[in-house]
Amino acid sequence: MAEILKGMGGMMRRVKVTVVGAGNVGGSIAQRLAEKNCYDIVLVDIVEGMPQGKALDLVEAGPVCSYDSAVTGANTYEATKDSDIIVITSGIPRRPGMSRDELLETNTKIVSSVVQETAKRSPEAILIIVSNPLDVMTYVAHRVSGFPRSRVLGMAGVLDSARFRSFIAEALQVSVENIHAMVLGGHGDSMVPLIRYTTVAGRPIDEWFSPEKLEALIKRTREGGAEIVNLLKTGSAYYAPAASVVEMVEAISKDQKKILPCATLCEGEYGFDGLVLGVPVKLGSGGAEAIVEYALTVEEKAALENSAQVVRDLCELVNQMSIKMD
Ligand code: LAC
Repeated sequence: MAEILKGMGGMMRRVKVTVVGAGNVGGSIAQRLAEKNCYDIVLVDIVEGMPQGKALDLVEAGPVCSYDSAVTGANTYEATKDSDIIVITSGIPRRPGMSRDELLETNTKIVSSVVQETAKRSPEAILIIVSNPLDVMTYVAHRVSGFPRSRVLGMAGVLDSARFRSFIAEALQVSVENIHAMVLGGHGDSMVPLIRYTTVAGRPIDEWFSPEKLEALIKRTREGGAEIVNLLKTGSAYYAPAASVVEMVEAISKDQKKILPCATLCEGEYGFDGLVLGVPVKLGSGGAEAIVEYALTVEEKAALENSAQVVRDLCELVNQMSIKMD
């Protein structure tokens, strides 16, 4: 990836990002990336005309928004060849009353096929998975692609932490920029907002709120995805998920070495082996260049283990499905 930034013969070439799934999440990602003016974007979807239409619409916004980004829409995978980063948003979203886990079987089939098609055309790409159930789909992508773990990431922790930060900012009437938060674990109701590592202007969060108020903020964060699903009624969130993906893409393409919570395959870290889970990751041009290990209390470890068990059980179900993954 470092070579990408240097480009051919010293010429800067744009980072090529494929976004598979041109629905609300994929479309919002494409828009945010186009506006950065440093990416070439390929938008892929099975619905005829839709990715082409959204791509053309985005190109036509370029003169108004002062960007020259190339945005291409396609129903097949040829145009994705030699992508630097591939974002996979494909799959069915939740509807009110559904858990992310209910999407398991359908989305496993979809994500497996998308990873097969894209990985072989871009064998050096970094994959960012957005489809739910997130941690399990990232595990599926890891198995199907055969890519090293550093190049297969899931987006969830950035979103969950952003939700937590926005609720804290609202409650205290302070800027979101003053708030740092780390939400780890699986992207589900058992996710683990780390209180000791969540600060407002550097001051630990439990000095700002009563235990009851803090508990309410944590609950709202855990249920943040469902809160939006219940309001929208026809699908799940997309503005904040798209913004979160773009933060990861930027960290990678600009080699920022930014520490963000991402779903990644643990190989001994935090005591988990062979399990995909949200943990703090250093993101740079190599993808997940390191997993940062925090010292956890007995309670925090137990909460992470509880969340891990939910992911482990779903991975077991996936392993039992008759879907060819290797
Ligand atoms: C959410 C879905 C996208 O958390 O998982 O909004």
